[in-house]
Amino acid sequence: MEIGQVIGATTLRGFRFVIKEGMEEYVKRDEFVSVKEAVTGNDILGIIKEITISNELLPDEFGRDLRLGDIVLNEGEYPVPTVKILGYEHENGLELPRYGIKPGSPVRLANDEILKRILKQDEDKAAFIGTISTRERVPVYVSINDIISRHCAVLAMTGAGKSYTVGVLIEELLKKKGSVVVFDPHGEYKNIKFNDSTTKVYGVKGEHRIKIETTSLRIGDFSNLIPDITDPQRDLLDEIINNLASKFYEKYDLGIIRKILSLIYDAKDGKEIISDELPETSIKELSKRVGLSTIGALMRRIDRLSRMGIFEMEGTPLEEIVSGNQLTVIDLSDADERLSETIIAAISRKIFESRKLYVKDGEGSSRIPTFLIIEEAHNFAPKSMEDRRILSKSILKKIAREGRKFGVGLCIVSQRPNKLDADILSQCNTQIIMKIVNPSDQEYIRQSVESVTEDVVRDLPSLSRGEAIISGSAIRLSVPVKIRERTTSVGGEDIDIVGEWRKNSNNLQTG
Ligand SMILES: Nc1ncnc2c1ncn2[C@@H]1O[C@H](COP(=O)(O)OP(=O)(O)O)[C@@H](O)[C@H]1O
Ligand SMILES: [Mg+2]
Repeated sequence: MEIGQVIGATTLRGFRFVIKEGMEEYVKRDEFVSVKEAVTGNDILGIIKEITISNELLPDEFGRDLRLGDIVLNEGEYPVPTVKILGYEHENGLELPRYGIKPGSPVRLANDEILKRILKQDEDKAAFIGTISTRERVPVYVSINDIISRHCAVLAMTGAGKSYTVGVLIEELLKKKGSVVVFDPHGEYKNIKFNDSTTKVYGVKGEHRIKIETTSLRIGDFSNLIPDITDPQRDLLDEIINNLASKFYEKYDLGIIRKILSLIYDAKDGKEIISDELPETSIKELSKRVGLSTIGALMRRIDRLSRMGIFEMEGTPLEEIVSGNQLTVIDLSDADERLSETIIAAISRKIFESRKLYVKDGEGSSRIPTFLIIEEAHNFAPKSMEDRRILSKSILKKIAREGRKFGVGLCIVSQRPNKLDADILSQCNTQIIMKIVNPSDQEYIRQSVESVTEDVVRDLPSLSRGEAIISGSAIRLSVPVKIRERTTSVGGEDIDIVGEWRKNSNNLQTG
């Protein structure tokens, strides 16, 4: 369908056109159009990015003295759309034109088929996540292999629809019998129910508690978990872990650390040391270098850790966390930041290391690739301006860099992009970006993410809830997408504040 004609000077990047009478309704932002290239006759696809409307009776100079009454002004009013050229179809992709477009060329509405063809992916390996914003008939797919092996980032301000979109992605991955692990600081994912897949939920309290193998904790993990640990206590714990526990036990738990502390205490006290596992001389030697109060205080702190019931001899078996056709939710809503960091670090480390072992050396039983989703990622992989080291960051960085080789994918979700580690962000090769109004977040994304250009950034504030711009390696063409509806229940919806107040006041009156 012809909707207008090219006017003015054109370039290889874009052109402007005038609209044919009666075609105004089709001409809107983000609509796709096509024109013929001069010389080659190639069909060039473009997208309307701007519409300027001028009226010859109302030039800029009129300014603020405008008083118009009932004068008819439509005559001489010209909307002029600006089109950004996307390219012509060439070997499964789009190529930018080389010859240019002649002024006067007819402009047509691009037909759905072209867009479908360009966005098409092997359905066996693609996730259906929505439709083009301006074309409800054109489905948008992203490549699952790409999303997982080359990571993705979901970025937007609060309430724009990040978690909802991640839910859509999870649904699609589970349709392919995938393995997904989500670290969920707000407990938003635990209610997702599937017909043909399992949701397994672990928390930090109660019956289904996540368990972390104590032997896997390093001294940094301990000091992170015990924020009030003093330097002498830390040094003592360091010695116990590195020179005693890990030397003389294949595996240990907090009980064993506690037992070693008691032996040191006894040695200090002049009592006899009886231990089958540990050499008396080491205990005695260590006891000479610490004070009784340090030992006592460290004992109390280790007891406090024990009471959490999370750090044990054996961790939750990896096969239970990473399993085909399963969403595993690590619900961190009852954990503080430090505990969350430790859990994320410990589990990601275990998943990564065991996949590495399996892929490189064929050892262990980590047979399937998995996808890790980190909500509130700015807290767990922040830029280095922080005053303390964030434990989870180094392993997340490692996965971002090397996960591809071992089939461990990362999905970073954040409402504060400019607080994210730039390295990790730039390793996320697919971006799902939704409404963002904060200029410093916009600027940071533009700088850190290759596929995000100036004009993508310019569009971010105008996106509506549930609308995203998807770009990067998992999609053929960067397009504005209306995310599809979820098929599973959502959870974590906004609270209807006024409704709750009304309900409360009704209860007060009747009760
Ligand atoms: N594509 C969508 N379709 C319908 N509702 C949506 C969509 N995206 C988000 N919502 C709704 O908007 C609200 C905020 O979405 P949410 O995903 O929690 O935002 P965010 O995680 O970015 O803070 C939720 O109530 C959610 O159900
Ligand atoms: Mg959210």
